[in-house]
Amino acid sequence: MSTLIAEHVYKVFGKGPDNGAAVAKAVRALESGETDRDELRAEGTTAAVIDASFRVEPGQIFVVMGLSGSGKSTLLRMLNGLLEPTAGRILFDGEDLTALSPAEMRRVRSTKISMVFQHFALFPHRDVLENAGYGLEVQGVPRAERERRAAEALALCGLGGWEKSWPDELSGGMQQRVGLARALATDADLLLMDESFSALDPLIRRDMQDQLLELQKSLGKTIVFITHDLNEAMRLGDSIAVMRDGRIVQQGTAEDILTRPADDYVASFIQDVDRSRVLTADAVMTGDPGGRPDCGCPTVSAGTPLADVCAVSARVQHDVAVTAEDGTVVGSVPQGRLVAFIGDERRAVLDCAEVAA
Ligand SMILES: Nc1ncnc2c1ncn2[C@@H]1O[C@H](COP(=O)(O)OP(=O)(O)OP(=O)(O)O)[C@@H](O)[C@H]1O
Ligand SMILES: [Mg+2]
Repeated sequence: MSTLIAEHVYKVFGKGPDNGAAVAKAVRALESGETDRDELRAEGTTAAVIDASFRVEPGQIFVVMGLSGSGKSTLLRMLNGLLEPTAGRILFDGEDLTALSPAEMRRVRSTKISMVFQHFALFPHRDVLENAGYGLEVQGVPRAERERRAAEALALCGLGGWEKSWPDELSGGMQQRVGLARALATDADLLLMDESFSALDPLIRRDMQDQLLELQKSLGKTIVFITHDLNEAMRLGDSIAVMRDGRIVQQGTAEDILTRPADDYVASFIQDVDRSRVLTADAVMTGDPGGRPDCGCPTVSAGTPLADVCAVSARVQHDVAVTAEDGTVVGSVPQGRLVAFIGDERRAVLDCAEVAA
């Protein structure tokens, strides 16, 4: 199974070229809690990733988000072997990537791992088909098969018919799609995406997110997606890790993070998220079937976004009933809870008398 596992992964950058001992010492001091990132930085050592552990199953999109400098790209570069972890292990498809020789790692990188960057550099003098087939060319796949697989990948990415065009004839969004097609053409099971959609304008970005989700349904890759955009993280991530100063400070579903932020940093990160689109009825529903299923009013399902639950709630005069596929009522959403969740339910309930005072 193409599961990706990171176990207590560290990356520490030291000062000079020969700094193995100092870096190992820094990891031990971080492990024991004797030092922290700021103290190390004062000595000229950067702890870019500290004790990262996670597991991504095939078919899952694991999103890593965090502010600039929090260690996201460093983490990703360790996953594809471009950087060697200072400590810890990375396993993919049952293989310990950290134990491979450089030659073995190159083999794994060219066959099992694909990367899509923020600014995907296409070769200007190759047409779209040749650009999409580049990863296969590196693998030594014969031309006919390369062209067939590249054309398939382009079609998946909505670029059928553009095979013979030149990169400069394509919009930025289309060029980014060629990058995605190149990654998909190789059949790699692990897709690493570093801010892949960040340079696109909002509408195209949303299109690309939809396309990725649609593709993922049929391809079932193991995807690690880096972004600093929380709405993107919430839309794409089956699981989301929030990084701060090299550490993963919280890991969970969009709902976990929105409803139970681990600390003030995560809370400040999520304050601008459109909860009504991210959270669904099951985050809010109570097990009490307070709605009246036999009154014929519209009902919702557990997966209905809160924005749509609101629309139903505005039309009925009682709690909104949540029904299973077979129509049985499994719970209900009281209007008060709905409003509280779309706002920030963690804020204290105000007492009128206190507000007035
Ligand atoms: N090769 C390197 N040598 C020394 N320090 C490095 C190196 N690469 C990264 N760093 C440092 O590691 C930290 C994490 O950098 P990284 O690029 O992983 O952050 P990021 O979360 O991807 O940021 P951004 O959102 O800006 O891309 C930063 O402090 C950076 O300066
Ligand atoms: Mg980065």
